[in-house]
Amino acid sequence: MKALVVYYSLDGNTKAAAESAAEELGCDILALEPVKPIPEKGFKKMFVGGRQATFGEKPELKKLVCDPGSYDLIILGTPVWAGKCASPVWSFIDSCAVPERIKALFTLSGGGDDSKCVRQVEKRTGALKARAALFDARNPKSSGNGEKLARFIEAVRALIRGEAAPSPKPNDPESSRPE
Ligand SMILES: Cc1cc2nc3c(=O)[nH]c(=O)nc-3n(C[C@H](O)[C@H](O)[C@H](O)COP(=O)(O)O)c2cc1C
Repeated sequence: MKALVVYYSLDGNTKAAAESAAEELGCDILALEPVKPIPEKGFKKMFVGGRQATFGEKPELKKLVCDPGSYDLIILGTPVWAGKCASPVWSFIDSCAVPERIKALFTLSGGGDDSKCVRQVEKRTGALKARAALFDARNPKSSGNGEKLARFIEAVRALIRGEAAPSPKPNDPESSRPE
């Protein structure tokens, strides 16, 4: 089974996790880039990103460098913005011709709950088979990220082998919630 890691990252946390997952899995990686970049600093960063996520805006993305349709499994990584997935990730999900191939999701949050983001994604993709809720590096609880990511990668490996990974439960501390 051919797998692809797709992610968006503004501050680098999701990028680091995505690169680590792609390297461990030996699979391709695709970074999403909005045509109009989201401001990286100050008030505008929270305002623009927060507004786009809250209202489900879908910023136009730069042309993708590979075709997600040529992969059997898509592993998606997103920062949590206003409880939801980051707007460029939402653009990707919305425009993806094969949303049902998105079977694994990892989120990066400042410390909040990612369940709204998970529900938002699952509405488009169907039930996810592997999940990890990771913390921003500035949060002391991010010390648990390595272990959570390792478990996530194991679950994805099972999917790649064609084995059914155990379905993550909404309140399962091992697979979904940040703690
Ligand atoms: C616009 C915006 C909205 C955010 N909203 C939330 C939120 O609702 N809950 C939360 O826990 N963290 C929130 N954060 C923090 C990010 O989820 C966190 O810093 C994450 O690690 C960023 O990932 P990145 O470094 O890949 O960009 C927000 C950050 C931004 C920029």
